[in-house]
Amino acid sequence: MVKMLICYYSRSGNTKAMAYMIADGARKADVDVDVKKVSEVSPADLLGYDCIIFGSPTYYGTCAAELKLLIDKSVKYHGKLAGKVGGAFASCGILGGGCETTVAQLLEACLIHGMIIIGDTEGSHYGPVSVEKPNKSIEKICIDYGKRLGELTKRLH
Ligand SMILES: Cc1cc2nc3c(=O)[nH]c(=O)nc-3n(C[C@H](O)[C@H](O)[C@H](O)COP(=O)(O)O)c2cc1C
Repeated sequence: MVKMLICYYSRSGNTKAMAYMIADGARKADVDVDVKKVSEVSPADLLGYDCIIFGSPTYYGTCAAELKLLIDKSVKYHGKLAGKVGGAFASCGILGGGCETTVAQLLEACLIHGMIIIGDTEGSHYGPVSVEKPNKSIEKICIDYGKRLGELTKRLH
């Protein structure tokens, strides 16, 4: 069974809720999913997964420092994450508050690691985003995203 890690940072629970919604979707694709706070993930842990999805609140238009620190420390394994599937999601406080810049920042890191990312022709093109608490329509986007990335990972691995 392919393995997916959903690694998130969350202070007030919005990003965490999205992480568990994405995990529900991935389980529909029969993927073995771990959902972990970034504080529970070491750079070496990333090696053990076929798909890694990062989630963060938007802080001044970028990801939380805690997540950026993990990404920066992952340079120790530069080249070893190549070929894995990558993904990202974010929450923010207001519409236009920078959710998509946060997702793009996380996807850029995945690309620099040589990971495979996929866009979406509908809805959240870059990855799921939510203004504060995810509502029912964001929940569906998150579930579909987890399932899609799970299915892609299964096709590739
Ligand atoms: C330090 C800090 C910076 C923030 N910067 C932004 C921002 O630039 N744009 C925005 O829309 N929301 C911003 N917010 C709001 C959070 O992104 C938003 O409340 C988010 O849903 C929190 O996610 P969480 O519940 O997972 O912690 C900021 C919040 C904090 C604490």
